[in-house]
Amino acid sequence: MKPTIAPFPAARPRRVRQTPAIRSMVREHSLSPADFIWPVFVRDGSGEEEPVPSMPGVKRRTVDKIADAAKEAYALGIPAICIFPYTPLEQRTEDCAEAWNPDNIANRAIRAVKDAVPDMAVMTDVALDPYNINGHDGFVENGEIVNDRTVEALVKMTLAQAEAGADIIGPSDMMDGRIGAMRSALEAEGHQNVTILSYSAKYASAFYGPFRDAVGASGALTGDKNTYQMDPANGNEALRLIQRDLNEGADMVMVKPGMPYLDVCRKVKDTFGVPTFAYQVSGEYAMIQAGAQNGWIDGQKVMMESLMCFKRAGCDGVLTYFAPEAARLLNG
Ligand code: PBG
Repeated sequence: MKPTIAPFPAARPRRVRQTPAIRSMVREHSLSPADFIWPVFVRDGSGEEEPVPSMPGVKRRTVDKIADAAKEAYALGIPAICIFPYTPLEQRTEDCAEAWNPDNIANRAIRAVKDAVPDMAVMTDVALDPYNINGHDGFVENGEIVNDRTVEALVKMTLAQAEAGADIIGPSDMMDGRIGAMRSALEAEGHQNVTILSYSAKYASAFYGPFRDAVGASGALTGDKNTYQMDPANGNEALRLIQRDLNEGADMVMVKPGMPYLDVCRKVKDTFGVPTFAYQVSGEYAMIQAGAQNGWIDGQKVMMESLMCFKRAGCDGVLTYFAPEAARLLNG
């Protein structure tokens, strides 16, 4: 559709911006707590919360505290929580066996949230990095991040998460063939209703820095993730990967990071019309918080503007560390 507009002064576009009432009538998009998926960090122990220094306002919580936080978030109208483990160093190994341990902290957190708030959707992260001694999302053999052996491990990890009660599996590893392998394993093991939200277009981004601090992977990572995560220069490749993941059985797809990649979100929505999510990642969050702490920007306004822009770009929802704060504002 081509936009048409009468010549001035027949058209005075400012007419519809005159008052809050008229602006609200012509507003094209809206934001609600139902648009948010809240990523949280879980650690060992009980009764404790500790701040993540590079992400002001974000905490690592023990399993019991995660359950409490989930209850609160659900009461605010946030439908889903996404669990990321901070794995103790001694449980990080070359064979990553902790990743599919039914009782690892992520799986314990899934169970705790499902017990505390059965109606809340629990999303997971599938990748080996929290359990890998070298910080990579896949197994490393002679310096190479190997694909097929990693996919086998990711399938075991997926099944353990589904057994623990996960509603949404979130493969963030960027290996090839993983969605199909996970989907058929879930079908075979009686988990037909477990959904897959694929991190289909996940870029090799420096915006993940604070997250790697939060999960304790910063020091661990040897080299970079450029052989599996996408090149930030590429847009068309994202569409091919989305198509591939949909063909293999992904129910929903994600673009990550968020704000610098809104053009990709728009292309994905226009091309496929499928449930499309963006991840407003740790570095985006940290930049907004840092600007606000310095008094350089109005943190609340920038937060709400950034979240609304995801909706305008075609996203159905956003993974955001701001979820509870933004939900509280939206609820008044
Ligand atoms: C791990 C994973 C990462 C993020 C989510 N899952 C980091 C990475 O790929 O190195 C980043 C999230 C964020 O920055 O907020 N597979």
